[in-house]
Amino acid sequence: NTYVVIMAGGIGSRFWPFSRTNYPKQFHDVLGIGESMLQMTAKRFQDICPPENVYVVTNKDYKDLVKQQLPQLSDNQILLEPIGRNTAPCIAYASYKIAQINPNANLVVTPADHVVLKQEVFTSVIKEAVAAADKDDVLITLGITPSRPDTGYGYIQYISDDTQSIKKVKTFTEKPNLELAEMFLNSGDFVWNSGIFIWNVKSILSAFKQQLPEITEIFEEGASILNTPEEQNFITRAYSQCRNVSIDYGIMEKVDNVFVLLADIGWSDLGTWNSLYTINDKDSNGNVVDGDVLLYDTKDCIIKTPKERLVVLQGLDDYIVAEYDNVLMICKKSEEQKVKEFMADAKSKK
Ligand code: GDD
Ligand code: MG
Repeated sequence: NTYVVIMAGGIGSRFWPFSRTNYPKQFHDVLGIGESMLQMTAKRFQDICPPENVYVVTNKDYKDLVKQQLPQLSDNQILLEPIGRNTAPCIAYASYKIAQINPNANLVVTPADHVVLKQEVFTSVIKEAVAAADKDDVLITLGITPSRPDTGYGYIQYISDDTQSIKKVKTFTEKPNLELAEMFLNSGDFVWNSGIFIWNVKSILSAFKQQLPEITEIFEEGASILNTPEEQNFITRAYSQCRNVSIDYGIMEKVDNVFVLLADIGWSDLGTWNSLYTINDKDSNGNVVDGDVLLYDTKDCIIKTPKERLVVLQGLDDYIVAEYDNVLMICKKSEEQKVKEFMADAKSKK
């Protein structure tokens, strides 16, 4: 009774111009390996549960993309949101729906935009967490050893003298400011929240009841409509009433039955151009290249351009050069936080 919920509704604005509103990054072959991030994510669970237990939650606009990329899924396994309301409503929807099918389901909830290099370790870690979640009323997350004071992550402090491999969490701080993040990193007591969660459906629904009663009410009222032909109409109404809240702020920061399983799974969050740069092999000048290029005096760049275009670069140092669907962006690698802004401005120009 293990089920996987893949959250694939984000826009991935920090990956613009590759990530686009009509084709966000999770549907792209970001690594240039012939597979999208969504396909990689689904494949990661092939030894964990049968394909009929895999559910994808995404925006209704991406229905065809999901069907194309994961043809093994039936329509009932693709949950369509009318609007993005962040991860708490997304998880509530999937949980209520799966609970109707199997009230004892153990859920593994995962983002669709991560890389996991150590597949075998991943499989065994997930199985261990699922076994624990099946037994006890616990909300488990996989913890990652932090390597920099990144403010885009959740930071978890766990009880370090806990000799169990699944450790009780003391504090969960979502997206701290830089000062706090540095303190957390230096203290050595903290791990990053991977955003991969494992729990029994009863546990997460009871946490929703406690912490997000207004969202609970909305879904509880229509729970019996889920998995019927009226589901989509109900969901449209439900989402118009849900506020925007992430599972991290809404639940994980607040409840006291959170546990963390330290997982050395070769994890990275491919959220930004720099993260893509970091995990890729570089040429002898420190460039990461996916495209047809001629490079002169160019170093430490990440270049991702269409195969059919020959790109000639001279004298570039530390740049992102990215082209997709009639947008070419050339941006200092150290200024990549501006990419979100570029995306917004480009939209308003159209
Ligand atoms: N279906 C759906 N609907 N999916 C969504 C929505 C939504 O409204 N919003 C986000 N997602 C998906 C994204 O596509 C992504 O796969 C996943 O949910 C997580 O959302 P992000 O927006 O990427 O979250 P984050 O990166 O800021 O933070 C989370 O992940 C970090 C690790 O990567 C948090 O869980 C942090 O605590 C964590 O450290
Ligand atoms: Mg993310």
